Amino acid sequence: MKFFVDTANLDQIREAHDLGILDGVTTNPSLMAKEGITGEANIRKHYADICEIVSGDVSAEVISTDFEGIIREGQELAKIAPNIVVKVPMIKDGIKAIRWFSDNGIKTNCTLVFSAGQAILAAKAGATYLSPFLGRIDDISWDGTELIAQIVEIYANYGFATEILAASIRNPLHIVNCAELGADVITAPLKSIMALLNHPLTDIGLEKFLADYAKGNA
Ligand code: E4P
Repeated sequence: MKFFVDTANLDQIREAHDLGILDGVTTNPSLMAKEGITGEANIRKHYADICEIVSGDVSAEVISTDFEGIIREGQELAKIAPNIVVKVPMIKDGIKAIRWFSDNGIKTNCTLVFSAGQAILAAKAGATYLSPFLGRIDDISWDGTELIAQIVEIYANYGFATEILAASIRNPLHIVNCAELGADVITAPLKSIMALLNHPLTDIGLEKFLADYAKGNA
């Protein structure tokens, strides 16, 4: 299972990388804006900075919604670094563009996926990654993990090569659920990844071990 961090914050990306568990990064226009990164040149420079830290795949999202625009933008993004993955929205021209990128050796991440039907289309088009948005489905009172399970089953039925990148993760339990279901990748905020560390019995146990050592070596 691969771990991607879902942020454009360089300090958080460095922290996840230093932990030794980071396989890649996903960003989106909202995450870029949150870091105050605006304007085409600054955004490209920021992707280059992320790719300096991380050798794994880094998703860079296009903002065009027409085929020609997506191709033009995606080609420019792909030139930034060899580990850039072009993130393309799940729309008709996006699917056409994913097929084009796939035929031309450019990796893609099909984003804003909310149904199994969309997942089938993206795999047929040759997407490298598929991003079902688990948390946003939970937000409207459906069970996001059900969608992950459905896609895992469908992709296994046909041996689709597209990797399931569970996105919009909101808590550590989402990560564990995705691992149980067999998602290939999770992308999560650093906070949710770090929360996997927590268990009160670990803290109590460590405190006792250290206290006993101190007593024995007083
Ligand atoms: C996926 O790649 C998106 O960047 C992200 O996971 C969306 O998460 P959100 O629903 O918390 O905004």
